[in-house]
Amino acid sequence: MTLVLGIESSCDETGVGLVRDGVLLGEALSSSMAEHLRFGGVVPEIAARAHLDALVPTVRAALREGGLALSDIDAVAVTSGPGLASSLQVGLAAAKAYAVSLGVPLLGVHHLAGHVAADTLVHGPLPERSIALVVSGGHTSLLLLGDLARDPIVHLGDTADDAAGEAFDKVARLLGLGYPGGPAVQRAAERGDPAAIRFPRPSAGTYGFSFSGLKTAVARWIERHDGPLPIADLAASFQEAAVDVLTAKAVAACAAHEVGTLVIAGGVAANARLRAVAEARCAAAGITLRVPPPRLCTDNGAMIAAVGSMVAAAGAPWAPMGLAADPSAPL
Ligand code: KG4
Ligand code: ZN
Repeated sequence: MTLVLGIESSCDETGVGLVRDGVLLGEALSSSMAEHLRFGGVVPEIAARAHLDALVPTVRAALREGGLALSDIDAVAVTSGPGLASSLQVGLAAAKAYAVSLGVPLLGVHHLAGHVAADTLVHGPLPERSIALVVSGGHTSLLLLGDLARDPIVHLGDTADDAAGEAFDKVARLLGLGYPGGPAVQRAAERGDPAAIRFPRPSAGTYGFSFSGLKTAVARWIERHDGPLPIADLAASFQEAAVDVLTAKAVAACAAHEVGTLVIAGGVAANARLRAVAEARCAAAGITLRVPPPRLCTDNGAMIAAVGSMVAAAGAPWAPMGLAADPSAPL
């Protein structure tokens, strides 16, 4: 029975989770998102300072939620990358301080492995092999997974330019819908016709994506249009193009690698249309689809503790105290 404290601070969310043997016992989240709104994106200096303010209170809140004490913690897992360098450093420094003072081991966790592991907290262990589509503000990756605690992740494809979430955020800005764009585009799309405008489905190789061209196509359409913009139809048609290309490639990757389980994770996995289309296509192809609930799709500490819990169960090696932040960690 190993209680793992998980700390996530790669972007603008300070996330803390407590997981014992794959079971989430407590979690807390503090976000500096509101402080970045007027800048149109995350400001690293503001994010790092907010993590410093929030970290200890967030750990305390998670412990309180779980009815646990600091002395119950058996290991500390922390996001080591990829992410914003200064934000990662705050989380790492705090994780090391907790590990040293409690005399427990430290584990550095890859942020994307965390996004995938979030699903295990609600749907149990993953099968021996699976395909993951991790779609967030910073990543769009199609991955071939074995045992998350031991096996290296095989990278099948990535985006050649913008990440999927970035495309939602940029299109939201074009449509005057505010930041973060994903939820705003989804809401606007609910009243729109996804077939109103046929936007391109850009691709980059078999499993690669390209979202910058799709965003430009939306911008061009707006430039050429006279009169009031059909915001709902634009949002729905853009969302349909993005969802179509993401789900088609993920399902094709499962078929090509003879894998029966697809996990969709990351902030964009909260998108209702993505979930619906993926569900239909996976059902047609005989693939089991696993998507964490929306609150576990966006950045959180529970997902980092979940990876820590798997590593503890597998008896895999812990990280040295010299563990450094790896902002551009490759997958
Ligand atoms: O995983 P996440 O919280 O942070 C990163 O690691 O990037 O993902 C944030 C991204 C943002 O781009 C946001 O617009 C997008 O996820 N997002 C969504 C939805 N909710 C969040 N995109 C589409 N539909 C949503 N419902
Ligand atoms: Zn993330």
